[in-house]
Amino acid sequence: MKISGRWHRAIEAQHSERCVSILDQTLLPHTVDWRTLNSLEATAEAISVMRVRGAPLIGATAAFGLYFGVNESASDEGLALAYDKLLATRPTAVNLRWALDRVRRVIQPLAPSERALAAWEEACRISDEDVAANKQLGEHGLALLQQLKPRSPGPLQLMTHCNAGWLATVDWGTALSPIYHAHEAGMDVHVWVSETRPRGQGAALTCFELKEQGIPHTLISDNNAGHLLQRGLVDACIVGADRVTSTGDVANKIGTYMKALAASAHGVPFYVAMPVSTIDWTISDGIRDIPIEQRAESEVTHLAGVDIAPVGTRARNDAFDVTPASLVTTFITERGLVTPTELHRLHF
Ligand code: MRU
Repeated sequence: MKISGRWHRAIEAQHSERCVSILDQTLLPHTVDWRTLNSLEATAEAISVMRVRGAPLIGATAAFGLYFGVNESASDEGLALAYDKLLATRPTAVNLRWALDRVRRVIQPLAPSERALAAWEEACRISDEDVAANKQLGEHGLALLQQLKPRSPGPLQLMTHCNAGWLATVDWGTALSPIYHAHEAGMDVHVWVSETRPRGQGAALTCFELKEQGIPHTLISDNNAGHLLQRGLVDACIVGADRVTSTGDVANKIGTYMKALAASAHGVPFYVAMPVSTIDWTISDGIRDIPIEQRAESEVTHLAGVDIAPVGTRARNDAFDVTPASLVTTFITERGLVTPTELHRLHF
């Protein structure tokens, strides 16, 4: 999508040097800084400290990381070390494991001398396919939005959480892709963006994206969502996902579950948009089986580097929560729109 009118991907392959450029998301919205990744170490660091984040982008970045790993050491041991190091960077988004498994499946049977090139090519394919999938799911999502009737005169009022836009993927985004398609199709839309404490991905990243694409939006504190849903000011919620179980339970950024509960209480449709690579077909009970990342207490006790609680206050920082399938109205995927009970149809 665009920054200052120029189209970018959130990770860009530089074929001649076989390295990648990433937009350092820890510096947004005030600084647009492209950073080169050309080693296993730098790639693992970029994922763990969230220079790149968002399930599909984590997956694509890790695929390039595995290329750097085998480029540094192509032996079986080198491959295993790189795989384990990258897998340990973030636990919840299943796209990480999916992408690493996909590259490993291709390169493991090859002679060590052939592994690096094959890994690079597979990582590029993963990136390109992510762009295509997110574009396609955006088109399916657009059809869904076109059927909605706004509750009040004026724009269609959509609510999202965290950042599930192009910055969370290679391009287009998941939850924001239908919104970008709606805007391009000339629909009148407005987006409520929740700030997403503690890391502020809604305020910093989603507002940045929507502003750059010229889409009307309003930032709200996380606590405002139930109030807006109760007052009939939201026509639909659209969020992304970090992992969806085979039965349709959804792990997404902390705070998603509360929005889903409030949407259900007020009869507002709750849509989850994700590529099929975000479905973990090996598990069925999200609350029991999805590992929830625990992040530093300081992310909660501090705001923009300033402590907001008495020194020594303990904090708990679950980065994700699980929304049960029963609260999801429709999944928007590149293979079409499905309800939670129809999700299994996508497994082929
Ligand atoms: O911790 P983050 O910023 O990586 O979490 C991202 C989210 O929760 C997104 O909503 C999710 O990955 C869906 S992204 C397309």
